[in-house]
Amino acid sequence: MTNLPNLPSDRKDLPIGIFDSGIGGMTVAQAITVQMPSESFIYFGDTAHLPYGDKSVAALQAYAIKITDMLLRQPVKAILIACNTASSCVFDLVQEYVGSRAKVYNVIDPIVEMVAADFAGKKVGLIGTRQTVGSNIYKQKLEAKDQHVHLQSLATPLLAPMVEEGFFKNNLSREVITGYLSSEKLAGIQALILACTHYPLIKEEIAAYYNGQVAVLDSSETVAKYVRQSLLADGLLKEDGAPDYKFFVSDYTQSFEESTRIFFGAKVPLELYPIWS
Ligand code: DGL
Repeated sequence: MTNLPNLPSDRKDLPIGIFDSGIGGMTVAQAITVQMPSESFIYFGDTAHLPYGDKSVAALQAYAIKITDMLLRQPVKAILIACNTASSCVFDLVQEYVGSRAKVYNVIDPIVEMVAADFAGKKVGLIGTRQTVGSNIYKQKLEAKDQHVHLQSLATPLLAPMVEEGFFKNNLSREVITGYLSSEKLAGIQALILACTHYPLIKEEIAAYYNGQVAVLDSSETVAKYVRQSLLADGLLKEDGAPDYKFFVSDYTQSFEESTRIFFGAKVPLELYPIWS
């Protein structure tokens, strides 16, 4: 562990560190700007290693620790793993590494709480990357809630790279989405968890496929509200003043830069932070 800066006494004003493999976590970052308009954040898109969904747990752990180290150096008051794939296999490690230096959040616990409360005894579908689905983390966490949610999961590995490349709201994305959602595994569900932070960008298309018959659950707002509650409870919520946003990528890609505009309007200045060299 390397030396890290001393934290200022009023940690409230420090930013939240947010990371994902690419633009997906921006769906959560955007929800944070709505739920906590004064909060600042530092966003890290690990574009050099995208997609995360097909990487080994060992690789994802190594990336997460390097990113966490970089974020702690800023410093930040909290780290939000805005990626289901990373949340499924690095959360405990990151939490242990960070210790008391910052709060650590994942994007899975808030949605599990919501699903357990609202869909007890129901059949719920889930789509996510191979790693997220293979980890069985949602099933385990839902079972621990003991609400008899019957979970049916399907890995949809093409969706995150498709979204990252800007392919959504077009014929190609509709075909791919229809191909996945028509799987037998998702037959008869009453709700569908979008267990990947890239998927809110195709939520409309997914909802259109179900034509209002299935509740499509996007976690970004739920996660932002959960983080707000937690920061407030710990006296760490910044409630006034203007926010400041910074964006880092581990590899500059034009598609990432273009996609940032979808979320934050005008061109967002990206800083290259090649933590791998
Ligand atoms: N946005 C991510 C997730 O929530 C990662 C997708 C990927 O890079 O494969 O899982």
